[in-house]
Amino acid sequence: MSQRPIAQLVRATAVSEGAGVTVHRTIGTPARRHLDPFLMLDHFSSDDPDEYIAGFPDHPHRGFITLTYMIDGHMLHQDSMGNRGDLLSGGAQWMKAASGVIHSEMPQQTAGLMRGFQLWINLPAAEKMSDPGYQEFSPQAIPEIAADGARVHLLCGAYGDRQGPIVDANTDVQYLDVALEPRRDFAHTLDPALSAFVYLFEGEASIDGQSLPAHTLAVLGPGESVEVGAGPDGARFILVAGRPLGEPIVQYGPFVMNSREEIERAMADYRDGRLVRKKAPMVGA
Ligand code: CO
Repeated sequence: MSQRPIAQLVRATAVSEGAGVTVHRTIGTPARRHLDPFLMLDHFSSDDPDEYIAGFPDHPHRGFITLTYMIDGHMLHQDSMGNRGDLLSGGAQWMKAASGVIHSEMPQQTAGLMRGFQLWINLPAAEKMSDPGYQEFSPQAIPEIAADGARVHLLCGAYGDRQGPIVDANTDVQYLDVALEPRRDFAHTLDPALSAFVYLFEGEASIDGQSLPAHTLAVLGPGESVEVGAGPDGARFILVAGRPLGEPIVQYGPFVMNSREEIERAMADYRDGRLVRKKAPMVGA
């Protein structure tokens, strides 16, 4: 089986988001605008409350899905659909913004480590103005699988005979969090038609003989399988894949549509209070 090589290395760029939260962005930067169907990947990782405490107060989204994976920490989510959710260490949240959602994501800790990822997954044109949706997954809902030399948390897709709880019908997203013991290898078969990347957030690793520095995203080239080797201190990374949509992408901040006209409409809708079509009261607001 042919191994997917590294096609591009994208080093994380520190970006200030929300009310002043430092995130480390790879997809969604000038070095890598998109990796169809993925629009953005932010890694948050800090034990300094000054870098996260301000959180992400009310802000809008239209045209895509946000998938948040909390590795360490505690965040409270509230949105215009009326959802109020507690995101705990090891849990995940899938939010289909589609036609429009306004939400907030606020840290519920004043000290300690806050670590996780937010991935933006594009929606096909036919789904961009559909009704929004929300699903929350407790840490217990995400299978932890012991493999040879590795421990896998399976958020989406299949690993062996196991299936992750988050299903993405439009783009077949696969999302694995892999902790690899020192000097061990991890191999995974992936549909060659899927775009794929690895983001290393602990230790050292190599892919197809090329080393992958920490806090760097490796866009993977064509092939049938992914093989990652851990360095002397082990490695921890996410491996994510998805089916490209092959549609035009026009983005303006939190709105991602197919044309300039649709973006202008999103901005006007937000300005005029029409972004959210089915408003539920904000719980506890
Ligand atoms: Co948001």
